[in-house]
Amino acid sequence: MNIVLRQISKSFHGRPVLENLDLKVAPGEFHVLLGPSGGGKTTMVSVIAGLTKPDSGSVLINDRDVSLLPPGKRKIGLVFQDCAIFPHLDVFDNIAYGLRVRKQGEANIRQKLKYYLEKTGLEKEKHKFPHQLSGGQKQRTALLRTLVTEPEVLLLDEPMSSLDILTREQISAELVNIQRKTGLTTIYVTHNQAEAFSLGDRISVLHNGKIEQIETPEELFYHPKTEFVARFVGINNILKAKVAATSRREAVMEITNEGLSQSFKLKVKNYPVFKKGEAINLCLHPEKINLSKKNAAIDGGLNRICGKIIKRTNHGNTFKVTVDIRGLALHAVIPKFLFNFQVYEEVWVVFAPDALHPLCGRRCRAPEFSRKCHNDLLTY
Ligand SMILES: Nc1ncnc2c1ncn2[C@@H]1O[C@H](COP(=O)(O)OP(=O)(O)O)[C@@H](O)[C@H]1O
Ligand SMILES: [Mg+2]
Repeated sequence: MNIVLRQISKSFHGRPVLENLDLKVAPGEFHVLLGPSGGGKTTMVSVIAGLTKPDSGSVLINDRDVSLLPPGKRKIGLVFQDCAIFPHLDVFDNIAYGLRVRKQGEANIRQKLKYYLEKTGLEKEKHKFPHQLSGGQKQRTALLRTLVTEPEVLLLDEPMSSLDILTREQISAELVNIQRKTGLTTIYVTHNQAEAFSLGDRISVLHNGKIEQIETPEELFYHPKTEFVARFVGINNILKAKVAATSRREAVMEITNEGLSQSFKLKVKNYPVFKKGEAINLCLHPEKINLSKKNAAIDGGLNRICGKIIKRTNHGNTFKVTVDIRGLALHAVIPKFLFNFQVYEEVWVVFAPDALHPLCGRRCRAPEFSRKCHNDLLTY
C-alpha cells in the first residue's frame, strides 16, 4: 500500500502549518517524518488519518483517493505518544478491543493475541492493568492494539518520546521486526534525529510546512541540501565560502564567516555547482575533523588550520570539542582515546577535502560520488 499526499495545505487561524506539501511513501516502506516541535508533523499525520481536514489537497492510499472518507474507513492504524490505553481493561482486553468491536470470534482473537503477545514479551503481563505496567509495556500494548486490527498502513506519532533510551531501542527493534515481516507501510514521526537514522528506510525533513528533503538516512546525513537540514541532523559547522578557484578534482574556497578576523582558504572536493567568484555555504561534519599537535607533520593533501581549543564537553565515549579559529568556532567530535590535548592548547584542525559538502538547495554530488544508485526508494 503506498501513501501519497498531493499539495496538502492547512492553516490554523490564518497561520499556515502545511503548505502545498507533497509526499510519496512506497509500499512496505518505513518512512520517518523528522522535524522540530511545532513544525506540523502531528497535523500531517492527522490529515492522513482523516482526523484533520486539510484546506486543500488530497490523500491517496494504495492509489485510491481517501480524502472524503471518515477516519474509520481509511484502514489506518494510529499510535500516539500518550498512548491512551483503556485504564479499566487489562492488557489482553485492551489489545482485543478493536477485534471485539469488529465482532471477531473469541477463538480467533485468542489465537491472534497469542502470536503477538509472545513476540513482544507481553505474555506474562496480559492480565495486568495499565497502572501496573511500565511505560514500555503500555506502549507495546498500544502498538499491539493497533497491529492486531491489521491496518493497511501504520502511522506512529512520536510513540517513544516518553520512554527511556533502552526501552526505546528494544521497542524500536521489535517494531522494525514486525514492520519487515508484515510489510506494513509505516510513517513514523519523531523530532529525534538519532531515532530517525536508526529506523527509517527514508527520512523526510519537515520545515516551515514543507518537506525540505527526502532521502535515505545515509544520503541525508552526508548530503544535506540546506543549512536547516544540516543543522537538524547535527552538522553544526556551517562555513560561508566564496569559490576562489576550481580544478578538475578540487576547488579552493575562501572562508568568510562573520566574526572571522581574517579569511582563510580550504581545499574542497570539486562539485559542479561551484562557479568561480560565487558564494556558497558548506557544511563540515564534526566527526570528520581531527586534531593534531602543533609540531606534528600533516599530509599536504589535507586541510590544516591553526586553532585553539576553547571548550570540551563529555559525551560518553566521545568529546565534543570547540576550537576557535580566528574568531570562528568549529565543532569536532573526537573519540576519547584519541584526545590528548588540554583546553586552551593550540592545535592543528585537520580534515580532508571531502569532509565538506555544499548546501546548494539541490541534490549535489561530486562527479565521483554520482555513481548509479541501487536503492529504488531514492527515486520513488
Ligand atoms: N487544532 C489546532 N488549532 C490551532 N492550532 C493548531 C492546532 N493543531 C496544531 N496547531 C498549531 O500548528 C502548529 C503545528 O503543530 P503540530 O502539527 O502539532 O506540530 P508538531 O507535531 O510537529 O509538533 C503549531 O504551531 C500548533 O500550535
Ligand atoms: Mg506532534
